[in-house]
Amino acid sequence: MITYEQLLELLKTRRSVRHFEDRPVIRQDLNRLLDAARWAPSNHNRQPWKFFIIEERERIREIAEQVRAGMETKLRSLPEVAAVHSAGLVQYGTFFADAPVLIVAMHKLPIAAAAGLWKITPHPELVSGEPLSVAMAMQNLLLAAHTLGLGTCVMSAPLLADDLAKTLQVPPGFAITSLIAVGHPDGIPQPPRRKTLEQIAEFDLDPVRSLPPISEVSHSENPPCT
Ligand SMILES: Cc1cc2nc3c(=O)[nH]c(=O)nc-3n(C[C@H](O)[C@H](O)[C@H](O)COP(=O)(O)O)c2cc1C
Repeated sequence: MITYEQLLELLKTRRSVRHFEDRPVIRQDLNRLLDAARWAPSNHNRQPWKFFIIEERERIREIAEQVRAGMETKLRSLPEVAAVHSAGLVQYGTFFADAPVLIVAMHKLPIAAAAGLWKITPHPELVSGEPLSVAMAMQNLLLAAHTLGLGTCVMSAPLLADDLAKTLQVPPGFAITSLIAVGHPDGIPQPPRRKTLEQIAEFDLDPVRSLPPISEVSHSENPPCT
């Protein structure tokens, strides 16, 4: 069993990597990532995940181009959003064009038998839990990749492109949770700042008693982030 300190080191040094060396990821390592993913907790242990692994560089570029076109079309229909976000957001959703591997993470749609229940529940997908289960599997995958020296980046921006499910041939009964770029990192980015414990947690809704005395976790050099 690893220690808390070892785990924290692993968590803190994982970065979202958006630039990759021009070399493939060996199949054994990809299998290891998927093996780590399947040990995540899941709603009722339904393991509602499915992963497509795309290694064909030309296909990855084509998908990125379709995402670019789809995002641009959507942004054109919302000029007030496009004015603020356009170029950065499209880049955020398409940088994977040069990634050696693209993983499509999918979740099963909630079981139809409970459809009546979902209709009267404000956030049925949170109760049903399929996307959350897949998110947990993705984090396992990201951390496993990190231990193997691989870089990854989860991407939800590409989901803005209409027809992505069709492009990626998502099977009936599933939806895309996220895409994940994988490859050998070409440089490791600086860690983006994190909110402090004080900013994110309250014990018994009592701000006075809310600060645990752990000097390590409260980085005073961290500017507040929103
Ligand atoms: C649900 C989710 C969606 C994300 N979508 C994108 C994305 O579309 N494009 C991108 O470049 N990064 C994306 N990211 C990566 C975040 O920008 C990144 O995790 C964050 O800036 C913190 O950096 P770090 O992962 O290096 O700690 C996403 C991360 C998560 C968890």
